Parts: sequence; structure tokens; C-alpha cells
Amino acid sequence: MFHRRDLFWLLLLAITVGLIAAVGFYVAPLAFSAEAAEETPDVVFVPTAHDVVAKMLEVAGVKKDDVVFDLGCGDGRIVATAAKKFGCKGTGFDINPVRIKESLATVEKFNVGHLVSIEKKNIFKVDLSQASVITLYLLPELNGRLIPQLDKMKPGSRIVSHEYRMTDASGSQLTTPDKEIEIISREDNTKHKIYLWTIPLKKVGEKVEKVDPEEKKKG
Ligand SMILES: C[S@@+](CC[C@H](N)C(=O)[O-])C[C@H]1O[C@@H](n2cnc3c(N)ncnc32)[C@H](O)[C@@H]1O
Repeated sequence: MFHRRDLFWLLLLAITVGLIAAVGFYVAPLAFSAEAAEETPDVVFVPTAHDVVAKMLEVAGVKKDDVVFDLGCGDGRIVATAAKKFGCKGTGFDINPVRIKESLATVEKFNVGHLVSIEKKNIFKVDLSQASVITLYLLPELNGRLIPQLDKMKPGSRIVSHEYRMTDASGSQLTTPDKEIEIISREDNTKHKIYLWTIPLKKVGEKVEKVDPEEKKKG
């Protein structure tokens, strides 16, 4: 027998299902599009030639007790090479899931899974305070946008960049590197630049407080 009470519960169920479906319909695409927007890489994948990687690690003076972060790790070759060569720890960050898969394969191939982790993350959201060496192969403006995060690293930490300095959107230099070297890669027979900075970064145009030694004596 079908009672009026059953009709009430049936109606209530239909309304609840309808409400859940409506919320899902409107909210899910928003969440999905926000995630999709975050997933877009700021620069495409171009790997650093292996001999340039070796030079970058040498210029940064990587040692066993270093923690190397590669921001935009591509196929993971920089962190995997650092761990293999120096026995140091490292983390590679990339936003592209294809690169994450490739990086994990490289870590396995180099047999450095006990030292290296790979994380799918936007580099502009990574806490860099635990790294002692940062490796970059991005673009000048992207390097410049990382400055607030780099400033949180411990004094003496090193940043090494393949090809590019740190600039603002108009191309103005934001920092002065400690070293700038050139290398001709045997892999592509092309000249490459490598820049090195040490924390604290030397900012271009930053006011240095000048203290008059005579005034200091008086005070
Ligand atoms: C030029 S490749 C460098 C790869 C590697 N570091 C190397 O030198 O061989 C830049 C990498 O940065 C990644 N990337 C771009 N924007 C990113 C972002 N906002 N967060 C994380 N990774 C990003 C790209 O997916 C790409 O793999």
C-alpha cells in the first residue's frame, strides 16, 4: 500500500538529490577551472644539457650535506645527478604531471630514491627555507618573481641559474650575481651562461646604510 507519508519521504528524497546535483553542477566546474588554471606551466620544458648540469652543481659548490631544490625540475636530471654525484638530498618540483612521471623514472634510473623526492607543486608556493642550493632554468622574470621566497633562505645558501638572471617584467636587473660563467656544451655545441648568487641577495639599487666612521667614534 502506498501511503501519503511515503509520498512525503519520496518528495523529500527527490528535493535532496536535486539540491546536491545543483550544487555539484555549479561548484564542481569552478573548482576544476581553478585547479586547471593553477596547473599551467609558466615556461615550457627544455632540459639542461648534462655537462651544463655538472657545471651548475660545481659552480654552486654542492656537497653531501646540501639540500638541493630544482624549481621546475623537468625530467628530474638536476636533483638526480646531484644526489648520485655528491650523495646529497634533493627535491624536484614541477607543475606538469608528465614531468613528474619522467622525474620519478629518472630518480629510479639513477637509483637515488632514498635521497630525492619529486613533488607536483607550483614553484611559487614552495617554502625554500629548508634548501641550501636552488637550481633554476626558467626565465629572467620568473627568477625575479622568486626573490621573496629566495630571501627566506639561510645566509650562505646558493642559487644557480642556467642562462638567465633575475629581472622584473620590464627586463630591469633586480640582483647582482656573484659569478657569471660561460660554458660550451659538448651535447649541443652551444654557449650557455650560468649565474651564481649567494644569500643574502645583492639587490640592484638597494640603499646601503653608510656610517661615517668619525660620527661612529663620537657616538
Ligand atoms: C626549462 S624547463 C627546466 C627543466 C629542468 N630544471 C632542467 O634544467 O633540465 C622548466 C620546467 O619548469 C616547469 N614549470 C613551469 N612553470 C612552473 C610552475 N609555476 N611551477 C612548477 N613548475 C613549473 C615546466 O613544466 C618545466 O618542466
